[in-house]
Amino acid sequence: MKLIITRDYEEMSRRAADIVISHMVQKPDMVLGLATGSTPEGLYQKLIEAYRGGTIDFSNVRTFNLDEYYGIDEDNDQSYHYFMKEKLLDHVNIPMENTHILDGMAEDVHAECMDYERRIDEAGGIDLQILGIGKNGHIGFNEPGDVFIRRTHLVDLDQETIQANSRFFTCKEEVPTQALTMGIETIMKARKIILIASGEGKAEAIYRAVKCEIHPMVPASILHVHPDVTVIVDEEAASKL
Ligand code: PGA
Repeated sequence: MKLIITRDYEEMSRRAADIVISHMVQKPDMVLGLATGSTPEGLYQKLIEAYRGGTIDFSNVRTFNLDEYYGIDEDNDQSYHYFMKEKLLDHVNIPMENTHILDGMAEDVHAECMDYERRIDEAGGIDLQILGIGKNGHIGFNEPGDVFIRRTHLVDLDQETIQANSRFFTCKEEVPTQALTMGIETIMKARKIILIASGEGKAEAIYRAVKCEIHPMVPASILHVHPDVTVIVDEEAASKL
């Protein structure tokens, strides 16, 4: 696990963007794993700028998102479909058929999850996966628990996650309590992973992910056994290391 501590959010975003950009230049048809949340917004802005500047081209890139709320339509402005379009996909030249996000309205959840795994495999696997981290140590929506859940699945969100997500919703009742998420093995199969975190609120999670032994109560701790993980955190998120 390689650790990069940056001065601030801006530098964290730039260092992460540099890695994605150099990968995309070397492999224009790369398979990119995307994350949602506040943390990657700066990174996505920098990818848009690099695209506008002519440094990168998304026409052959394929993307797979980590997760999506369950029971929320993709047109809902709180869905991760909506987030990805607004923050990245609508601003670059990626063909929409190259973008993959789990269907939060799928009637047959099991079939949707199996199909997602199949689509990732058919694309040749994920070359580079971007991850954020929850305050509770989750990656994707793999919440702390007794075991690591390997494959893409439906998950009951933690109270802490529901609380954190509630900042985007007008009332508590609207906050989804379930989501579809790539599993731990799905994430770990990515050839390269970058995990980004910013701010004091993530310091404890980063400490537990980086310093503690591997345990499903800290889902991000599994990254220790991945051969190519770069953790990029600003000084505040690194403050407990
Ligand atoms: P955040 O979410 O970037 O909005 O903090 C990260 C996560 O929960 O994985």
